[in-house]
Amino acid sequence: MNNNIVVAIDGYSSCGKSTLAKALAKELHFIYVDSGAMYRAVTLYFLRHNIDFTNHAQVADALHNIHLNFKTHNHKTFITLNEEDVSEEIRQMHVADKVSPVSAIKEVRVAMVRQQQRMGRSKNIIMDGRDIGTVVFPDAQVKLFMTADPKIRAERRYKELLPTNPNITLEEVFDNLAHRDYQDTTRQESPLIRAQDAIILDNTDLSQDEQLLFALSHIEPFITE
Ligand code: DC
Repeated sequence: MNNNIVVAIDGYSSCGKSTLAKALAKELHFIYVDSGAMYRAVTLYFLRHNIDFTNHAQVADALHNIHLNFKTHNHKTFITLNEEDVSEEIRQMHVADKVSPVSAIKEVRVAMVRQQQRMGRSKNIIMDGRDIGTVVFPDAQVKLFMTADPKIRAERRYKELLPTNPNITLEEVFDNLAHRDYQDTTRQESPLIRAQDAIILDNTDLSQDEQLLFALSHIEPFITE
């Protein structure tokens, strides 16, 4: 089997990118990399260590002390920050509130992109994020650009967050998403844009199975025995 197929999935926040990416990885036995988790883990480190985001020397210094890894246990993938499993904490609102400014910092992007490109070498991978088809893997065989109605996206994320955040409101989640969309699409460094050769997948009215079949139909031609 061809062993260097890259599937790049980009799109807005809470569009179901990671759900689709995980399902594809399971179906195809590809490695799944959640690049957003890396930006979230960096953000968590900056918050814990009171790093001034505007201070380039402090940011560069902090990046040297950040070691991220993906580990799999019982078919679940975890992200570790300096060997600590931070998979749960990076999903919390205090991290979500600050991840856009952190991911807009050039030094942060350079460091993450370098690591992501290394992960894609000689492997079949599915990576989701905002700049995967444009910057990280411009030569990816398959590029998907996911989008969905903002209200539906907010409802989906709200349902996900509610069990661990009983006081959260739908309005708060909607505002956070709208703010992140704005920052992600208007930032100077690698803004979220659709790669010219990316296939648009609007999943507002699509089930998870329908999305999976759609994506598989675009990937399967590249899989040779
Ligand atoms: O996919 P996510 O919502 O977990 O991503 C968190 C943030 O990280 C998002 O607001 C934008 C940023 N991000 C990015 O700038 N580039 C990526 N490749 C992935 C995420």
